[in-house]
Amino acid sequence: MYFIPWDTMELQIGKLSAVAIAKKYGTPLYVYDKQIILQKIQDLKDAFPNTNICYAIKANANFTLLKLIAQQGVGADCCNVVEMTLAKEAGFDMSKSVFTTVNPTNKDLEKAMQLGILINLDDISIFPRLLQYGTPQVISFRVNPGFGKGKFNEVNVGGEGSKFGMDEETLSKAYALAKESGIKRFGLHVHTGCIIFDEEYFQKLVRKVLEIAARIETSLDIRFEWIDLGSGFGVPYEPGESPIDMHHLGKVFRQAFTHPAKLIIEPGRYIVAQSGTILTEVTTVKGKFIGLDASMATLIRPALYDAYHPFILANDPEKENTESYNLVGPVCETTDFFARDRAMPKLQEGNILAIQVSGAYGFVMASRYNGQSFPAEVLIDNEKDFLIRKKETTEDLLRGQL
Ligand SMILES: Cc1ncc(COP(=O)(O)O)c(C=O)c1O
Repeated sequence: MYFIPWDTMELQIGKLSAVAIAKKYGTPLYVYDKQIILQKIQDLKDAFPNTNICYAIKANANFTLLKLIAQQGVGADCCNVVEMTLAKEAGFDMSKSVFTTVNPTNKDLEKAMQLGILINLDDISIFPRLLQYGTPQVISFRVNPGFGKGKFNEVNVGGEGSKFGMDEETLSKAYALAKESGIKRFGLHVHTGCIIFDEEYFQKLVRKVLEIAARIETSLDIRFEWIDLGSGFGVPYEPGESPIDMHHLGKVFRQAFTHPAKLIIEPGRYIVAQSGTILTEVTTVKGKFIGLDASMATLIRPALYDAYHPFILANDPEKENTESYNLVGPVCETTDFFARDRAMPKLQEGNILAIQVSGAYGFVMASRYNGQSFPAEVLIDNEKDFLIRKKETTEDLLRGQL
């Protein structure tokens, strides 16, 4: 535990000095602020009353965080047998949770049936495989509404050529098949992309899904009890991006969502992204290139999408930006590049940088490539710090190798 003098110049996470945390646990290090996670869940609950909020585990599956999120009474959105097992072990209410999957294995399907979790099937072809494990009480299928959106092409998962969901014609056949199989209760699922700020887009999506729902209900004489609108709620990463007004977005959804079905949403990024910071040390100053001990193995988003993350000099966050640097990692790939020509204060070896907005799709996408082991993770609760995952050792890396 560190008590920070009132006049500290250092970046704080919760009520602790980021530099002190980096010294205590070593770098690179994932750090999460508990209060931010709690606030984000509260924002969603306030904005979406009477809604089944299912945390998308894929965004951050640290077990301590899962337990914390489960304690807030929300459900989980799980993609496979591992995520369903984690959700159950962490204490999520499985009756409020969903299994949303693309190309599931039979083990995934069997587990979903065992748990009695609401299943969002991605294709009609999967349905007969599911029936091997019994007839579910309720079934939901994923529609591709014909369009999608996302900050990067790679996170747009709707429209022509997408591997996710079914067109309306196939969707209708899937519900007809489910009805013939004796299923009497139905849900409908959609998720078209990530990091979306545009309220009009969400409005358009809700309307489109309700039009499709109405046509299927009429033609097959069925009723949807659940409509799961997925997620995609954006969070600001770069200058010029403003946070979503969640309260207002909730209103937009409520106005557009005129169906009596229970609404489900599956937010991942919104809950955890802004709680997370990676602390990394400057190892090398090679002219304009600043070498860090974090890499694309620690945080792959910049290499994968050319994604922007704020980099803050934790030792002195107010120091003036006088330099233009390339921020890079130690991995032998040209794509191990966090930022080009980034305006920063003058840096030196040993400085600690904070890579902000790293709580979602950070650690979960980390790898061991090129001798990089998984970093430790720490949870901050105001003035207290808790190690919630140990840093991997070389012995850990050798475990299981024969
Ligand atoms: C089906 C589904 N639901 C929910 C999410 C979570 O999205 P986000 O993290 O943007 O909230 C994803 C993300 O890819 C998804 O594929």
